[in-house]
Amino acid sequence: MQRLVIEGEKKLSGEISVHGAKNSALPLLAACVLAKGETVLHNCPKLSDVYAALRILACLGCKCIREEGSVSVNTDSLTHFNVPDELMSQMRSSIVFLGAILGRIGRCRLSFPGGCELGPRPIDMHIAALEQMGAKITEEHGTLDCDVGKGLHGAKIVLSFPSVGATENIILAAATAKGTTVIHNAAREPEISDLARFLNACGAKISGFGEDTVYIEGVKELHGCEYEVMPDRIVLATYMSAAAITGSELTFKNIRVQDVEAIIPVFEQMGCAVCPIENKMFFSAAKSLRACKTIRTMPFPGFPTDAQAVVMAALSKARGTSIVVENIFSSRFGHVDELCKMGADIKAEGKIAVINGVKRLSGAKVRATDLRGGAALVVAGLGAQGITEISDIKYIDRGYECIEQAFSSVGAVIRRV
Ligand code: UD1
Repeated sequence: MQRLVIEGEKKLSGEISVHGAKNSALPLLAACVLAKGETVLHNCPKLSDVYAALRILACLGCKCIREEGSVSVNTDSLTHFNVPDELMSQMRSSIVFLGAILGRIGRCRLSFPGGCELGPRPIDMHIAALEQMGAKITEEHGTLDCDVGKGLHGAKIVLSFPSVGATENIILAAATAKGTTVIHNAAREPEISDLARFLNACGAKISGFGEDTVYIEGVKELHGCEYEVMPDRIVLATYMSAAAITGSELTFKNIRVQDVEAIIPVFEQMGCAVCPIENKMFFSAAKSLRACKTIRTMPFPGFPTDAQAVVMAALSKARGTSIVVENIFSSRFGHVDELCKMGADIKAEGKIAVINGVKRLSGAKVRATDLRGGAALVVAGLGAQGITEISDIKYIDRGYECIEQAFSSVGAVIRRV
């Protein structure tokens, strides 16, 4: 089993480029199902979750080719509608294939999705919305069988919570449905806008994305296009946390400042200087980090739940007491016990974590418990005295393209063994 070994407390310097966003690439790959002919996605990250999505596409009958940073998907021979359990269980985002397959083929059979253990992750909103659009969905022994009969139709859908996955599934199903679909209380995450822009480039008619009411006027069919995946805002937050905890100056390339506007003030409160210019960000850490007022994870444009763990790792070495309130998932503090093994002083109960900053973290043998929690251990390891050894790094590889190479390129001592 692979591990990451980090010799911490090294100053970092130089430039790191932020790769394409996992949380955008996966719905875009699902969306390819709807587009006839060939689609090419550029800046598509090389991640295990992306490979799993490509395997799903191959199972459906698509021809997928990866060349460097690009992936091409040809759907001309797409005929199947079953997604194997083994692939569904690998990642949560596999559920967005449901809306896309229903839109293209009218039938779909798949099991409940897997992904990181962050507490219950129901899909009731996805199912209720698709049923409103005319899908008949039955569940037996954990397998969902979905059929749209004569086809999907537009509907007015009011979400009880701005769910990212449900908004994506509805947009995908509605893109080629008959009539117009309106989603009220839609998720506003930048990845939703990326999906809508991609579908529009394929011939869809979607407006209002990035706001809480999204309109999707169904079109007869979609065609392939070339599209560039947006940069990963959570990878950027991870790099910022690494720069902060190591007291470093770094430049981040290929960023979009509008995606991280809720994250920047947290680092400014810690005393770091953040200067975004066009698609670059210059980051200079505080000599000694300061604690933050309360951070509450919220749907976009609030502070993202995915950045909670990495920022907490940086705060574990900040002077004073910080508080983190996790409002999206009921069990997203798996990294806390591991950070404490490294000398952090963090108490987590329910949705609240209290972080009393310590002067020093020390290297330890720790285990990644989930994707972002694993990345938090890398951040902590970079800021800790001595050697940190992280196991179960398969979680980290789900969302970070060769994380050890990115950090080694700016002076970190980190290797995969
Ligand atoms: C969530 C995050 C997203 C992040 C992703 C991976 C939010 C709002 N969403 O997206 O930013 O990138 O995890 O970590 O921050 N829910 C239901 N029923 C449903 C769907 C969702 O009750 O049918 C609940 C979930 O249990 C959760 C909340 O709604 O408490 C947010 O879910 P949702 O946005 O759908 O989750 P993801 O799409 O996985």
